[in-house]
Amino acid sequence: MSRYLVKSFGCQMNVYDSERMGDLLAAAGHDPAESPETADIVVLNTCHIREKAAEKLYSDIGRLRQPRADGSRPVIVAAGCVAQAEGEEIARRAPQVDVIVGPLAYHRLPQLLEDAKTARAIDTDMPAEPKFAALPPRRVQGASAFLTVQEGCDKFCTFCVVPYTRGAETSRPLADLVAEAEALVAAGAVEITLIGQNVNAYHGGIGLAGLIARLAEIPALKRIRYTTSHPRDMADDLIAAHRDIPKLMPYLHLPVQSGSTRILKAMNRAHTRDSYLASLAALRAVRPDVAISGDFIVGFPGETDEDFADTLSIVREVGYAQAYSFKYSPRPGTPAAAMADQIPEALKDARLAELQALIATTAQAFNTATIGRTCEILLERPGRKPGQLIGKTPWLQSAYITAPDARIGDLVRVRILDAGPNSVEAEVLPLQPESAAA
Ligand code: SAH
Ligand code: SF4
Ligand code: F3S
Repeated sequence: MSRYLVKSFGCQMNVYDSERMGDLLAAAGHDPAESPETADIVVLNTCHIREKAAEKLYSDIGRLRQPRADGSRPVIVAAGCVAQAEGEEIARRAPQVDVIVGPLAYHRLPQLLEDAKTARAIDTDMPAEPKFAALPPRRVQGASAFLTVQEGCDKFCTFCVVPYTRGAETSRPLADLVAEAEALVAAGAVEITLIGQNVNAYHGGIGLAGLIARLAEIPALKRIRYTTSHPRDMADDLIAAHRDIPKLMPYLHLPVQSGSTRILKAMNRAHTRDSYLASLAALRAVRPDVAISGDFIVGFPGETDEDFADTLSIVREVGYAQAYSFKYSPRPGTPAAAMADQIPEALKDARLAELQALIATTAQAFNTATIGRTCEILLERPGRKPGQLIGKTPWLQSAYITAPDARIGDLVRVRILDAGPNSVEAEVLPLQPESAAA
């Protein structure tokens, strides 16, 4: 018997790919391992987005190649976006790696593992044939599932590696997605998050709004989310879907990157501060309670104090419920890496700290404003205290409840009682009379 472990280093699509590689390995007769120490095959599913993310690959390989007590070491697979971007360099820097496979070719993993028995196998093609068609059915998993609907990016922001590691934008056919969603729901999923590098650029015959409307017809599916959206593709019908489709959760992750239109132009973002704010205003007009989340980069080349002040002011103006912020990391081969006026690290650090402190205050304000609301939460994991469970509200807040009788995967009705910057506390409400009658 041989055992495998897949470790994810990246975004939700990277997590989805890890799960699918697990499906492939299980279909090929391997069993999941509990830890890297007991695995015969270790897949490192890498991320290239920032330098720090990419470097994790090499530290993990260093650990894995140390012989164990019995002299063995696992078969090492480098997968994901670093494998795609610098497969040859991995082969040079880490000759112990047995298989190198990119994000568009991993359906060939079982064959590559066979090939690797004789010599290192590399596959960083961007094959024309769809990988999804070649993957086995998904295995049973939890109440909340990811579903990749769109992959790749044609936008070429000047800081970003994704168009190079994931290739051009492609959308999966509607029929395949409906079938995969129905299988997930049959296996117990009550929430599906549609994912893609530019998920709202989905165009499988119908747009993302049409896909959401179609999936909302699956009776046992209770919640639909989508991420990550690009501001340029916030179509009117998608905004209207937030008014018309109750199963679509009131949450939007819409990265802006900077509040300065001058910097947005240098980033080649194809949106301005004002067009971004206009999209959010349109959304809030139809769904006033919507929670907004975003991504920010500080210290992009040429970013002045004034540009950074614009970023702080857009955070205040939007009142983000959540946001991720990063120091600009120059990536090999991207236009911004070659720009003049790179910002010193110390200044990036200071700006990041200031931005994160501000985001914590807007997140706290958002959470505080939800105190007193009643809503459903989807229970995801146990808390630290006995009887405590953590679930997600419609606004994607982590809500803590004490409910010894509830189970992971349940949707329970709660009232929000208290709020911190990263979570809320809630109490379980008694069942509605009609369901309590049973
Ligand atoms: N497609 C999404 C973002 C995908 S990458 C969009 O366009 O918004 C996820 C986030 O990583 C980005 O939103 C950005 O904030 C960050 N990021 C990407 N490249 C980066 C870089 N070179 N340095 C720092 N952060 C980066
Ligand atoms: Fe990267 Fe820009 Fe594409 Fe997002 S839209 S994946 S930031 S190139
Ligand atoms: Fe990273 Fe690739 Fe996702 S670079 S963010 S794993 S698309």
